[in-house]
This record gives sequence, structure tokens and C-alpha cells, in this order.
Amino acid sequence: MTSKGLAAMTAAASTPARPLACIILAAGKGTRMKSDMPKVLHQVAGRPMIGHVLAAVSTLDPDQLVVVVGPGMEDVALAVAPYPTAVQERQRGTADAVRAAFGLLEGFKGDVLVLYGDTPLVGVETLRAMIQARRQASDPAVVVLGMRPDDPGAYGRLILNARGGLEKIVEYLDASEQERAVGLCNGGLMAFDGARMFDLINRIGDDNAKKEFYLTDVVQLARAAGMNCAVVEAAPAEVMGVNSRAELAECEKIVQRRLRRAAMDDGATLIDPDTVTFSFDTKLGRDVVVEPYVVFGPGVRVGDRVNIKAFSHLEQATVSDGVQLGPYARLRPGADVGTDAHIGNFVEIKNARVEPGAKVNHLSYIGDARVGARANIGAGTITCNYDGFFKHRTDIGAGAFIGSNSALVAPVRIGDGAIVAAGSVVTKDVDPNALAVARGQQKAVDGFAEKFRKQKAAEKAKKTNG
Ligand code: UD1
Ligand code: MG
Repeated sequence: MTSKGLAAMTAAASTPARPLACIILAAGKGTRMKSDMPKVLHQVAGRPMIGHVLAAVSTLDPDQLVVVVGPGMEDVALAVAPYPTAVQERQRGTADAVRAAFGLLEGFKGDVLVLYGDTPLVGVETLRAMIQARRQASDPAVVVLGMRPDDPGAYGRLILNARGGLEKIVEYLDASEQERAVGLCNGGLMAFDGARMFDLINRIGDDNAKKEFYLTDVVQLARAAGMNCAVVEAAPAEVMGVNSRAELAECEKIVQRRLRRAAMDDGATLIDPDTVTFSFDTKLGRDVVVEPYVVFGPGVRVGDRVNIKAFSHLEQATVSDGVQLGPYARLRPGADVGTDAHIGNFVEIKNARVEPGAKVNHLSYIGDARVGARANIGAGTITCNYDGFFKHRTDIGAGAFIGSNSALVAPVRIGDGAIVAAGSVVTKDVDPNALAVARGQQKAVDGFAEKFRKQKAAEKAKKTNG
């Protein structure tokens, strides 16, 4: 149960308040995914499908919400917590799944929205339109979400009567040639009058091609009892159901197109938008430029005027204003890059704060660390953060200079303004403004090279002549 916000209370002043319950069906085995993971946990734009549905639904601030899962789907229950789940013991069809939620909705009087966990793209405006249609004067017992896809394939077909009302839904397997020719398809989502829904759905049988309890039969039952049924149409892209990996990819494509568009609308330049992959929660500031082939995993925030060069990969990372990133930069979880810092090619940052103006420009690994403001990290520097058992921290002070190809063996601190000589393996703390040299000393042997070459040439001549 969610608490009603102020917005909902003011809205209630104009429209008569009517409670809303939502049921999300997610118990299906998803056989066609050929997966060991429940279908609704497969991700679209870095978030499980069920997460997309929950996000849309929670905007409606429903009074009750139940997710119907199959036995043993604890990971789905975990993913939807704190919303409650009801278990459908055997997958006997969509009507049977809705019935599984009835126990938690006993005595509920209001409107009930039924959604599918495998239909992740549905927008909140469409859900609002369905609820509004349910509350219209003709008082339909059921409102079905319809669509007209280019290829109606195996979707159920919506059969209308002469007055444009919904007469019945036929599943593809049970449809006649004539019915299959109908372009208006069942998107699956439905809005019900709770007062009539429980009785209607309890009457649904399993006399069909699949011997399943089809939720779609509710329409015919309602009509037979003299109740109205209505259709709200939505764009096919929004109602697309995911049943296979190919459809998952299709769905991803649609979401990516939306996310790229939103990023550009918000003031980011995408040089080749089709090559950039976003997550559902990627946040880009103004005047960000994203070069081709950049991947944003979940949890990325980017400030203003940031340049993200080609082939960079970011996840759970924060990038402040004015940062230069990449090409080929990798920001892993906990990377926090301060204002105007530079992170260059083949640099990996994990669980580390790079403070303003610092530079890590080439071929480095910075993990479990702080890089102080304006510090300069030379090419090939590695923080050796792991001893095979535990992770340790490296702390690099402001203005420090780390020479190229240094290994900083954590735990270790480099003081403010200190210099580490190139090629050092630093195992002890370095005081502020000190120089640390931790490498073999260079020896010079005068004339050695010339002598060496002569000797070797003579050896070779002897060998080939003999
Ligand atoms: C269903 C509709 C079809 C519609 C299509 C739209 C029925 C009978 N058919 O078919 O008319 O065109 O969706 O995408 O409703 N589920 C359960 N328990 C079950 C069976 C299913 O929870 O016993 C859940 C699934 O997890 C899924 C949803 O219900 O989220 C839909 O099930 P699915 O098997 O994908 O139905 P479709 O064959 O796609
Ligand atoms: Mg489906």
C-alpha cells in the first residue's frame, strides 16, 4: 500500500476519488526465452523488464499493487520489494494468474489495472487513458489496451461490434482465418471495474486450444451479461510484449531510440546517436558531447560541458562539469571524477575519487583510491589494490606527480605535492613534497656497448666460418 501524495489529493478534489489497484502478471515461465532466469528479470536499458512496469505504475500512485509470480521466483519477489507478491502455483493461463492476486485484494472496491511484466514499454499516459476510459459514462466493465502492429503475428485479436464496442478477444490459436485477418490486436493490459471483475474472472474456463484459463475470455463473459467493454488504442511500440530474445532486442532498440532522443532534447550532442547505448537512468548535463560507441551502464550522472570520447564505458559513476573522458576510458562503479579532470585512453577507474583538475591520461588503473586535486598520474601507473584476499586504499595528495609506469602498492599514501620517480614500486608512504625513488639504480659502463658488439660479431664470424 502506498501513501497518497499531495498531488493525488488535489486531483481528487476535481474527479471523484476512486481507489486503484494494480496487478502485474509475472508468473509465466517465459519458455521462449530459453533461459534459467525468469523472463521479467531480463533487462532492457539496464533495468529488469518488471522494473520498467513498476516505474510506470508507481507514477499512478495506486492504493494497492500485487505482483503475481511463479513458485520459486524469489528473485522476482526481491526485485519488486517492498511491493507484495502472490504466488500462482501452476502456470495455467493469464486468468488463473489474476485469480492468484485476488486473495490480497479481498474486499477491494475501485478500478483494477492488470499489466504484464513482459510488456515493459507501456507509458503512464496510456495507463491513465485506460483508467479514464474505464470511468467514462458508458461504465465499461473491462477496458482492453489495443494496438495495430505491422505484423499482428500471434497476438490475440480484438473483435469489435457494429457500435465500435469490444465484443470478444480471440487468441491466435483459436482464431478463424477471418479473425486472424483483423489488424487490431490485444496488447494484454486491461482495466476493470473491481466490483464486477472478481465474479467475471472466476467464471473463466479452460476450453481452448491451449487448455489454459485465458484472461481474454472475460470480454465475452461480460458481453453475455449485458456489460459494455471498450478498447483504448496505443502505439504498437508501447504495447510490445517480449517473449523471445529477438523481441527483447527489438524492445531494447525502441527504448534506446527514446533515451537518445531525450538526451539530445536535454542539450547533449550525440555525434552518431545510433551507436550510443544508454541506461534507463542515465543523466547527462548541458553541452555534453558524446562521441560514437559509448556505453552508459546504470547509475551514471554526467555534469555540464563534459566531452566523452569514442569507445568509453561508464557504469555507476559520477562525472562533474568540464571533464574530458576517453577515448577508451572505463569508469566502473564508484568512480567519481571531479570538475575539469582528465581521464584519458585505456584508463580504468573503480571506487575512486579523482579530484578537480587531476589528470590520469594514459593506460592506468586507479582503484580504491583518491587522486588529489591537480595531481598528475603518469602513463601506466597502477594502484595495486588487491593482495589476493583484501582490497586496500591508495591516497594521492593534491598536486602530487606520479612518474610513468609506477606501481603504488596499497595501502599507501602519497603526500600533497610529492613526486614519485618513473618506474617506482612504492610500498611505503611518501611525505608531502618529498621525492620517492623506488627502483634499481642506473649504472653507466663507459664504452661497454662498442666492446660488446665487437665481441659478439667475432663470435658469430667464427661460428659461420667453422
Ligand atoms: C497474451 C494474451 C494475448 C495478447 C498478448 C499480448 C492471453 C490469453 N493472451 O498472450 O491475447 O495478444 O498477451 O502480449 O491473455 N502469465 C502468468 N501466468 C500464466 C500465464 C502468463 O503470470 O499462467 C503472465 C506472463 O508472465 C506474462 C503475461 O502473463 O507477463 C502474458 O503471458 P504470455 O504467456 O506472454 O501471453 P501471450 O501468449 O503473450
Ligand atoms: Mg507475452
